[in-house]
Amino acid sequence: MYINKFQALKIGNLQINLPIIQGGMGIGISLAGLACAVANAGGIGVIATAGIGHTEADWDTNPKAADTRALQKEIQKTKAGTDGVIGVNIMVALSDFDDLVQCAVDEEADILFMGAGLPISLPKTLPLDQLSKLATKFAPIVSSARAARIVFKAWHKRYSHVPDAVVVEGPLAGGHLGFKKEQIDNPDYALEKILPEVIAVVKPYEQQFGRSIPVIAAGGIYTGADIHKFMKLGAQAVQMGTRFVATHECDASPKFKQAYIDCSKENIIIIDSPVGLPGRAIGGKFFDRLAAGIKETFKCHWKCLKSCNFRKAPYCIASALTNARNGNFDGGFAFAGANAYRVEQIISVKELIETLAAEYIAEHCKEPIASGTYDTQRIEEIIQPL
Ligand SMILES: Cc1cc2nc3c(=O)[nH]c(=O)nc-3n(C[C@H](O)[C@H](O)[C@H](O)COP(=O)(O)O)c2cc1C
Repeated sequence: MYINKFQALKIGNLQINLPIIQGGMGIGISLAGLACAVANAGGIGVIATAGIGHTEADWDTNPKAADTRALQKEIQKTKAGTDGVIGVNIMVALSDFDDLVQCAVDEEADILFMGAGLPISLPKTLPLDQLSKLATKFAPIVSSARAARIVFKAWHKRYSHVPDAVVVEGPLAGGHLGFKKEQIDNPDYALEKILPEVIAVVKPYEQQFGRSIPVIAAGGIYTGADIHKFMKLGAQAVQMGTRFVATHECDASPKFKQAYIDCSKENIIIIDSPVGLPGRAIGGKFFDRLAAGIKETFKCHWKCLKSCNFRKAPYCIASALTNARNGNFDGGFAFAGANAYRVEQIISVKELIETLAAEYIAEHCKEPIASGTYDTQRIEEIIQPL
């Protein structure tokens, strides 16, 4: 019912009736539970791979194998729970990026989202001269037109192929950010500014390759009116993270979700992540201890992030995020988007989508379809309960 209020998204042969992508959220925040619910609602449900193997028995001794096994299980579980479109989020910064990409392709995930670094080089185990023949689509996550240009150029040259879609993530997102700290509040780097710049980079490739390459907006998108705004600016879909944390189906513990309800605007802070990027998180005891100079003691099993300087890092980010995911905020912290303080309650994915659809259509109806004429049929639709 609510789905037909949006324009469907097409990525190659994938038809996504609800142009909303649930952002991949590690560690363990978006797994099969959330991904199934979003895919069943008509959007793209995304499994996050960061630290995915931490629940496997051999995580400490055989982490790479644990990660791929856990991903395989999670994809199979998601496929068993939905006929909808499912994605896998793989951070380029992960040491086992190649293994995870290969695993997701072998399991025929519909689409891979690759961020936290530029995915300019794919695993050599893939059929790199025939990427377009794979069942799996590829979508890099970028934070600037420059980054989009680098990725598209590299793929064109190396693979005679370019990505199937692109996510542009602005500075209001949760988790790791592709910006320098001083750029975060600078309007020149706002999503409203960078989205059209990325679209301009992608356009010539659409013409050259004779196919549509949808650009998806992410970061700080909270309401249906926000969705409407970014669609008007040229996005063909949106990616949302924070709103999906506050759902019953989200795979995090109730305490993690409660942290979103409890936080205020002032609690949401920018941190220096050991990944080497800034990140947005909910502040608390964990950071208070670090600020007081108390160093966490931890043992690094395998340097899960390529860029982590674990000998100098004040804490292990994988352990901190896993602890928070499990509700232990003494030993960790939650990543969250800039709008997390607006969360008031936990609702179902269905309720969330219905709310977003109603807000979206209300925004649409504010616009005259011709001078002085309004789309009365649509206005009636919003008056009708969804
Ligand atoms: C708790 C949390 C964990 C996240 N983990 C990842 C991740 O593992 N990989 C990734 O590419 N993005 C990650 N993100 C970013 C989201 O996928 C999404 O793009 C972003 O949150 C969108 O902004 P919003 O939260 O304002 O909607 C994370 C975000 C949150 C809130």
